[in-house]
Amino acid sequence: MVDTLRGAVIGAGIVARLRHIPAFQEATRRGLAELVAICDPVPTALAEAGEQAGIEARYRDYREVLARDDIDVVTIATPNSLHEPIAVAALRSGKHVLCEKPLALSLAEARRMAKEARGADRVTAVNHRYRWVPSARYMKELLEQGEAGEVRQIFMNYFNALVVDPNAPIQWRQTRVEGGGILADIGSHLIDMAVWLLGPIQRVRGDLRTFTPERPAGGNGRATVDVDDAATCQLEFASGAVGILNVSGVCLGRGNYQRIEVYGTAGGLIYEIDWPGDAGGDRLQVCFGAAQHRTAGMAPAPTWPRHEATPLDPFLDFFQAIHDGRDPLVTFDDAVRVQAVLDAAERSAASGGVWVDVPTGI
Ligand SMILES: NC(=O)c1ccc[n+]([C@@H]2O[C@H](COP(=O)([O-])OP(=O)(O)OC[C@H]3O[C@@H](n4cnc5c(N)ncnc54)[C@H](O)[C@@H]3O)[C@@H](O)[C@H]2O)c1
Repeated sequence: MVDTLRGAVIGAGIVARLRHIPAFQEATRRGLAELVAICDPVPTALAEAGEQAGIEARYRDYREVLARDDIDVVTIATPNSLHEPIAVAALRSGKHVLCEKPLALSLAEARRMAKEARGADRVTAVNHRYRWVPSARYMKELLEQGEAGEVRQIFMNYFNALVVDPNAPIQWRQTRVEGGGILADIGSHLIDMAVWLLGPIQRVRGDLRTFTPERPAGGNGRATVDVDDAATCQLEFASGAVGILNVSGVCLGRGNYQRIEVYGTAGGLIYEIDWPGDAGGDRLQVCFGAAQHRTAGMAPAPTWPRHEATPLDPFLDFFQAIHDGRDPLVTFDDAVRVQAVLDAAERSAASGGVWVDVPTGI
């Protein structure tokens, strides 16, 4: 067992304050890790996050954080375009790295990050946190036990209203150069879930739509939106199963809505997150066998204490993995597989929706 890890959060925006800082605080209570530095070039973000965390060591340049040899781990919560340069620099300075999703802007970037991680022999993790939702954990367990039989189909929806207002100014997420669009933003989570649940995806068809092609930007300016704000993908798994993935940022009334339906030769499962969110808003329903199909249909499957988890668990798993000398549940290699599907879906959409093979290899 190594001593308590000393860590830094790089990027002090929404997710850093909602998850990264509280995760370090929980890790401190458990003796796993403590937060010793925060970094963000925007003074207000840095000050607010610094106050929240009670941290005096505040940096505007991540290179100063990485130069500190008393820091063992960094968590990266910046816009997506900065994931690669910061993660690579962190690995080269000997830090373990948890990076936000999507891992990168492109498959090439993601592969470079994973290669760097392998060479550095450091622990890497990616915050694909929905794997820790209790109902998702139970669904995974039931599928592993074969309760659905041979899985034939998966239907996945992820809806929010992040880009519904055409008058909302453009954000970094809505640009190719910094973000990558809604499929990359929220679709990456469900692709990760799909591969986790059913194994590798080998072919994809993609249809990506931009409903608001132009948005207000800086002063009286306008900016062209060069990424999708809704996407539908058809998926073919190596197992022979097929699937549909719908993601959309223009769904009013849906909050942060997710639904995954899985149907196999022996049963069906429906996982859902609805209001008020994944802390208590998650549900699992199951139907096992023809007898239940004829009588009750889908029935609620309440989770057990062993499925309990919170959105802080991906971080705690990362810290514990470093202590234990093992891989965490979601590694950079896993996120490369997600990025390969995003890459194939985008190439398919650009070619009018033809089937595209998902690149293999990490
Ligand atoms: N896992 C999840 O459920 C989840 C949820 C939300 C966001 N995210 C991911 O987290 C990341 C951040 O998202 P957010 O919603 O917090 O965005 P945000 O815009 O609120 O925060 C990003 C922060 O990074 C800072 N930043 C910019 N350049 C920087 C640099 N060079 N060094 C350090 N900090 C820099 C910005 O000033 C800003 O404060 C994204 O990758 C996003 O996809 C993940």
